[in-house]
Amino acid sequence: MLVNPVKRAYLALESWFNLSFGTEWNPLYHLGTLSFFLFWVILVSGIYLFIPFQGSLSGAYQSVEYMTHEQWYVAGVMRSLHRYASDAVVVTVLLHMFKEFASGRYRGFRWFSWVTGVPTLWLIITLGITGYWLVWDELAQYVAIGSARLMDAMPLLSGAMTRNFVAGQMTDRFFILIEFLHLLGQPLILFFLLWIHVKRLSGVSINPPRGLAGGTFIALLALSLAKPAVSHGPADLASMPFTLNIDWFYLNVYPLLDYWTEGQTWVLTTSVTFLLMIMPWLPPAKSSPIAVVDLDNCNGCGLCFNDCPFDAITVQARTDGARFEHEVVVDPGLCGACGICAGSCPASNPFRSSKSTLKTGIDMPQLSVDELRTRTTQAVMEMSGATKILIFGCEHGLDTGLFDDAGTRSIRLICSGMLPPTLVEFALKKGADGVLVSGCRHNDCYFRFGNQWTRLRFSGERNPILRARADRARIRVQGAAETDKGDIQRSLEKFREELGRLNQADKSADAEKDEKVADENYH
Ligand code: HEM
Repeated sequence: MLVNPVKRAYLALESWFNLSFGTEWNPLYHLGTLSFFLFWVILVSGIYLFIPFQGSLSGAYQSVEYMTHEQWYVAGVMRSLHRYASDAVVVTVLLHMFKEFASGRYRGFRWFSWVTGVPTLWLIITLGITGYWLVWDELAQYVAIGSARLMDAMPLLSGAMTRNFVAGQMTDRFFILIEFLHLLGQPLILFFLLWIHVKRLSGVSINPPRGLAGGTFIALLALSLAKPAVSHGPADLASMPFTLNIDWFYLNVYPLLDYWTEGQTWVLTTSVTFLLMIMPWLPPAKSSPIAVVDLDNCNGCGLCFNDCPFDAITVQARTDGARFEHEVVVDPGLCGACGICAGSCPASNPFRSSKSTLKTGIDMPQLSVDELRTRTTQAVMEMSGATKILIFGCEHGLDTGLFDDAGTRSIRLICSGMLPPTLVEFALKKGADGVLVSGCRHNDCYFRFGNQWTRLRFSGERNPILRARADRARIRVQGAAETDKGDIQRSLEKFREELGRLNQADKSADAEKDEKVADENYH
């Protein structure tokens, strides 16, 4: 299978990070939550800085100098933490965005998360710009003049911003407005936008693993102590600063103004924004059939509601007069067509009806549980050889069809979470010696929770559980991305050897049993 080069590059980066951080603490698996953590660092350090900060043109610079040099051990460190966490958040958000793009998680039903993400990015940048402004040093002056040029070039605002620079000085009134924006206005809008951004998802975690959060904090603290954030010389609108250390994370647009007109700079930034906004429809994603509820087989237990990663299922009062209290309803606008609900439905039990069509409470028209059962029976029958391994592979992970041979067959699932645990038991009962379930990489499910729910169901921690009678030694769960063929190949070989030994042991045990029965009959 051809893997798109952007995704391949991203997966390579992810693998490299896995080697350094392990899969649990790999920051690339926690970019959204890491961004939230950085916001907390920015918020707490910002609140501390607000206390000694003097919010006037005459006092701002001196108060920041006091914090940086006189009280370097607390306020200075807080200033540096504030600065470096702000820089880091730009990196994590850009990586988060790149990751969603590289793995194709921005189109179709995900357009909402993508489109609401774009303004958060710009808001973070403008939050940084107003932050630099507050120091009122030469860099702040550069930012103030650049921003005034840009704002005044807008048709409705022409001249409005420059009016705040009276007689070569910025007015206090305007400085207080910037302060209000930075301390209250922009953060409130940002948190509101972030709330909207994750609103359509269920079970959103906003905290990264503790180890990752702790490590990030220690790294920021070490950087703050090794290279404290400092100011430039005080602002003086009567002169132009010669040398400036630009923060390229936030102020990258301003140097453009040395070469381009304000209009050209606006055209660039608005075009980039527009392009980002319409990306989910370039080209529009083909829509997949969504989950369908069959009330005749739904008892309203709500397991699908608990497992849906996109909040697409609601539990409501029964409408068909059946003896159950509840039923579930799928919202077509929110359904990601992942099939996780079908995997969680207790009625998706292949042992239920052996001859007729297997009907379940909630199912995927494109790949029904009945079809999965048929394919399972067929695949087991087709296999030959000493050890037969059936692989259930996720469409968004490694193409497990690559391993098909006489003793191995693969069945593709929309998501590993759509696999009812009883189907694994069924495959073993039908004659498979072992079953391998291969979803996306650990911590990186295309449908957010598919591989996590599979693990929990198999370990008996989440309903519907894999029953105790299923022989765990004959079941493996291992995530793999498109580029992880070698890993799965090696695991399969090892699994086959282990299954061979188990088969041998079972045969010996059976032979012993037969001998015992024969002996008993003889006597
Ligand atoms: C401050 C900035 C941001 C934060 C803190 C943030 C945080 C998050 C979080 C926590 C999630 C849920 C992840 C999960 O539980 O699976 C998420 C999802 C998402 N974010 Fe962001 N995000 C930010 C900016 C952006 C930007 C700029 C974009 C792209 C333009 C973006 C695109 C997405 C997409 C497409 C999803 C949906 C992923 C899915 O459905 O699996 N985000 N974000």
